Amino acid sequence: MDFKKYITNIIAGVTELDEENISSLLEVPPDEKMGDYAFPCFTLAKVMRKAPPLIAKELSEKIGSDDVVDRTEAVGGYLNFFLNRASFIASVVGAAREAGEAWGASDMGNGKTVLVEYSSPNIAKPFHIGHLFSTAVGNSLARIYKRLGYNVVSLNHLGDWGTQFGKLICAYYRWGDKEVIEKDPINEILKVYVKFHEEAEKDPALEDEARGYFKRLEEGDAEVTALWQYFRDVSLPEFKRIYDMLGVSFDSYNGEAFYSDKMDEVVEMLDAKGLLTESDGARVVDLSDLNIPPCIILKSDGATIYATRDIAAALYRHRTYNFYKNIYVVGTPQSLHFRQIFEVMKRAGWEWSEGCEFVGFGLVKFPGKAMSTRRGDVVFLEDVLNEAVEKTRAIVEENDNVRDNKDEVARKIGVGAILYTFLKNSREKDIIFSWDSMLDFEGESGPYCQYGYARGRSILRRAEGIDYSDPDFSLAVSDEAYSLVKQINSFSDAVKDAADKNEPFYVNRYVTNLVKSFNKFYNSNPIMKEGTDAETQKARLAIVDAATVVIRAALGLLGIETVETM
Ligand code: ARG
Repeated sequence: MDFKKYITNIIAGVTELDEENISSLLEVPPDEKMGDYAFPCFTLAKVMRKAPPLIAKELSEKIGSDDVVDRTEAVGGYLNFFLNRASFIASVVGAAREAGEAWGASDMGNGKTVLVEYSSPNIAKPFHIGHLFSTAVGNSLARIYKRLGYNVVSLNHLGDWGTQFGKLICAYYRWGDKEVIEKDPINEILKVYVKFHEEAEKDPALEDEARGYFKRLEEGDAEVTALWQYFRDVSLPEFKRIYDMLGVSFDSYNGEAFYSDKMDEVVEMLDAKGLLTESDGARVVDLSDLNIPPCIILKSDGATIYATRDIAAALYRHRTYNFYKNIYVVGTPQSLHFRQIFEVMKRAGWEWSEGCEFVGFGLVKFPGKAMSTRRGDVVFLEDVLNEAVEKTRAIVEENDNVRDNKDEVARKIGVGAILYTFLKNSREKDIIFSWDSMLDFEGESGPYCQYGYARGRSILRRAEGIDYSDPDFSLAVSDEAYSLVKQINSFSDAVKDAADKNEPFYVNRYVTNLVKSFNKFYNSNPIMKEGTDAETQKARLAIVDAATVVIRAALGLLGIETVETM
């Protein structure tokens, strides 16, 4: 039941205001003691030519009480509503248990397609921790939009084209070894790439050689194309292994190369609009009126670049999916690039490009470590994941509760700890990597939330055989129960806020607070303790059931899996 709507209707029945107006005025008081909803009477004062406190008092008398509204109180110019706690708990707990995993669902997205592009690692450059950040945010956003009823398509815009392939091919011919690469593709390809930069510093002619190879690749030369295909083929399974570990999947792996034959059209379209100008032999879209650098479309040697491929990709996505939103989850250092290409598309008159959104995120900092791809001292994503799982495995080993599936439990908790860390704060904030806070079972962490879930499940296991399907909730009314159920009820707001701002942290904060309320509830409202009244116990068990269902549903939106014991 929509309680806000219910109260809106009541107010509409006793005032001249329309429902939309009332709904926008209704507030949730900062302090629970002031009720569940507060209606400010100041707007009414003008129409009714009365003082707000008097209006509040009159309305309170008129409204009285019913099954849903226990009472109203006039305080100053506010009319405060107190819900009937037993019926509120019964209604919300019932609905949440019935919805299960679908709790928080909505049909607001029906008929609309949202593209979420994320992860997008590069072949020939390392899959680094920034790509993990993108993967965590993008995967969560995809799940959030799905929950809201959107048709979601997950895209991995692989970095499988560009001048770095010229460098890689050049380096491979000189120092590469197929056998070595096959054993550990990503690392060996990176080694060869790093070697190129070391050697090119001594011998700048290598850069020209590399450019030559990329040109041959763009021209479709069979030999270098086969090599390019080979690098792509050995890298993809490596990426997929990581995605499997994270429980992430994509609908499309169309990367930059996919658009390499779709760029002539873009160049022609931009040219036809008169947008292209010459600059040092390159063809660019001048954006000086915005005080930003021009968007380069074709380089002086005729080679296309990153931006052109992105414009071609956006056009292709529009034609293929007719998207409502086309979201790019990419690090904030690329915000200028996206501003440029969005602006070019706008100037090309592509109205649909308004659905393109750049969703940036901050840097990941490892205290005491500098990172540079060219020097090869990057922090590898897979190493970080493995370390998280190993560290968790050590903790799990000491935990007597976990007897079976220790590997599975360690994986879920280790991966969950990392995902939680990336989704904990507003995404543009930088992250300082700390194992201690990440694996702190008592602080705000993934394991803390998973533990809350496991506690609930263990209570329910002990209650096996007890029928708590239809209890008398008036017996379970308490401040802690009420706060918890209010939290449960506000899930859909968190999901909507998260989609609104493309910020999964709303859901993260939600589930953390939910678990906190849940812990308070079961610590102060005895459930399986001997001597607990049998009927009260049933009502509390039903609340525990609802809480665990919702913790799981919320963690699921973050891509975090749950475990039954820990
Ligand atoms: N591959 C790029 C990188 O690692 C990210 C791709 C972002 N997406 C895009 N459509 N440009 O930096």
